[in-house]
Amino acid sequence: MMAKDSLLVCDNVHVAYPPRRRGGKSARAVDGVDLEISRGEIVALVGESGCGKTTLARAILGLQKMSAGSIMFDGIPFSTKTVDKKAFRRRAQIVFQDPTASLNPRQSVYEIVAEGLRIHGLSDNEHEVVTGALERCGLHPADRYLMKYPHELSGGQRQRVVIAGAMVLEPQLLVADEPVSSLDASVRGEILDLLQTLAREQDMAVLVVTHDLGLAWNIADRIAVMYLGRIVEIGTTEELLAQPKHPYTQALLSVVLEHLGMSQQILVGEMPDPTAISTGCRFHQRCPLMQSGEAQKKGIGSRCTTEDPVLRSDDNGHLVACHATESATPVRG
Ligand SMILES: Nc1ncnc2c1ncn2[C@@H]1O[C@H](COP(=O)(O)OP(=O)(O)OP(=O)(O)O)[C@@H](O)[C@H]1O
Ligand SMILES: [Mg+2]
Repeated sequence: MMAKDSLLVCDNVHVAYPPRRRGGKSARAVDGVDLEISRGEIVALVGESGCGKTTLARAILGLQKMSAGSIMFDGIPFSTKTVDKKAFRRRAQIVFQDPTASLNPRQSVYEIVAEGLRIHGLSDNEHEVVTGALERCGLHPADRYLMKYPHELSGGQRQRVVIAGAMVLEPQLLVADEPVSSLDASVRGEILDLLQTLAREQDMAVLVVTHDLGLAWNIADRIAVMYLGRIVEIGTTEELLAQPKHPYTQALLSVVLEHLGMSQQILVGEMPDPTAISTGCRFHQRCPLMQSGEAQKKGIGSRCTTEDPVLRSDDNGHLVACHATESATPVRG
């Protein structure tokens, strides 16, 4: 399944957090994720709170230990001892949700943006690189910002500074975890536009994490939908919007498209806790196909409650993990 130009390949990635209490169960926060990102591609990872998006993002960056599975970055597996950790850290950068929390209030904009360069021993032309990055991130003329401190900037400007601090290292992958959710609605679009422009201009892949499907489709080439530790559907933005295949994606979409006259599909119950993932399809208790009796009518009802569906691909590379869409071929045996 590995495409020629793939930059990142996650294969059956698991992350389990140890039990909070003695005798408790571990939380399977990421529970068998397959995900591939091509060079220069923007992939949005969407799903409700607690489904494991941040945990997956941290595992991809090597900040979180996997309990099983493997990750390849630029053709080199993570586990290989020969991987130069520092070189990897430079090539994959992260942008967090809240720029105020990620910026040191006592550092000037210049020091913040130059910090990564210094850590990686890249101090040639430092001033030029820093001003160039700030201007590419929409802070121009850069001279006006260099000596400012975070409290003198707006939320949107702070997030631009954070992004500039990542861009000076010319990463091949930028992971942005809810990069706009702490910002005013009025500047969210601008920051997303910036990420899109940077991805195009620098041939940088972006994994943007969001619980907001409506934001995702404005910027992403592909959308991955995550539910309870697993990616249950992934396809191009056009495909996923026009033909969502997983009943969970359909429900998410119906909420976003309600204003266009689509009837809203309210899911029953809540996403279970990752310490208590059920057998069969992890979505079956909430699945509208089960509730309406459609799954039983199709003769798959018992499979839905006993057999964990694998991601299957159609001819266009649109992947879905649902027993109700069986014609496709499995990605992994
Ligand atoms: N350090 C930890 N120890 C134990 N459980 C954890 C830990 N961190 C996260 N979890 C649990 O793992 C699950 C996934 O959490 P995660 O933060 O990855 O979700 P998320 O999709 O990023 O959610 P949000 O949209 O709220 O940011 C949740 O059930 C969470 O409670
Ligand atoms: Mg999160």
